[in-house]
Amino acid sequence: MTAMLRTVRFVENVIDTIRDKCGLDRSIPVDPSLSQQLLADLRRFAGESARCGDFWGEICQSLLHCAETGNPASFMRWPPIARTMVPRTGRYTIAAYRALRSSAHWTDRWEPILHRPTIGRPPACLPDLRTDNLTVQHASHLHAFRKLCGVEWYDADCIVEFGAGFGSMCRTVHQLGFRGRYIIFDLPPITALQRFYLAAHGIQADYAPGRSVQLCHRLEDVAAVMPPSADRLSAISTWALSEMPLALRADIEVMLERCGRILLAYQAEFEGNDNARYFDSLGHRLARSFDLHVAEIDGHAGNRYMFGLAKAHRPLA
Ligand SMILES: C[S@@+](CC[C@H](N)C(=O)[O-])C[C@H]1O[C@@H](n2cnc3c(N)ncnc32)[C@H](O)[C@@H]1O
Repeated sequence: MTAMLRTVRFVENVIDTIRDKCGLDRSIPVDPSLSQQLLADLRRFAGESARCGDFWGEICQSLLHCAETGNPASFMRWPPIARTMVPRTGRYTIAAYRALRSSAHWTDRWEPILHRPTIGRPPACLPDLRTDNLTVQHASHLHAFRKLCGVEWYDADCIVEFGAGFGSMCRTVHQLGFRGRYIIFDLPPITALQRFYLAAHGIQADYAPGRSVQLCHRLEDVAAVMPPSADRLSAISTWALSEMPLALRADIEVMLERCGRILLAYQAEFEGNDNARYFDSLGHRLARSFDLHVAEIDGHAGNRYMFGLAKAHRPLA
């Protein structure tokens, strides 16, 4: 860790401590029944951790332990979540924040979204203490898509997200006015956290078919509720497809082919998988059906976006 980064972490920690001690935290109060439901869901899914793979299996196991011993109102401070899903201030967030700040839609779109209260006690976002680093990143994905592709990624009737973390992108697009169907595919214990987080923001997500925000653990369930190939079907996977086993990626690829707009972000390497090579070859295959835009992510060395807009006359699966 460089001296600069150590200073940034120190300043963040001081701000977080002051906020905690002085009650300056901007969190939405959490209904105790939601915390009970989270614990019940996590216990119900406890046996599933083994099939989540080594890396995510361990995260899911320690998530249950955190929920049994800690307060879900501070879930972003829980080590398994903080380590995998909660970014801190760094070059990337600063670049993303600057891009939003200099956008023509700062006042009417991004500022209101960024300044909404949230839950989970995220660490301080140094460029703007009224928001958090993940919301900045998610807003910047939408901004980047619009800039490169000329259309809104979330202007859709249905969105499918593969690997949604605790549900922050789902919350963001709902706060931007999305009212269609949102389908999330993720590991069972992580969907429990999504259900909790989204409900605390007034968005009801559930496992039962027919819900406007539907949580799925199996791709068959996603396929059953996903509309047939459609231009108004958008898909997203940010730092998630790039963390999944290769066999699962192949099945998801078939589903991506059915979508009108795709938004992917990935790191060059994950747990020994050469993602740069994998995404190059994915890009070649998707280019048959999509106009693709691949771009380096500003401030995030080795990380890239792959955005796609379905061609007007694509070969449909
Ligand atoms: C690093 S998080 C990214 C979360 C979010 N997309 C974001 O950008 O903040 C990776 C996500 O992929 C999910 N994931 C990892 N492996 C998976 C698998 N085998 N099946 C389903 N979801 C998986 C994780 O549970 C988590 O939600």
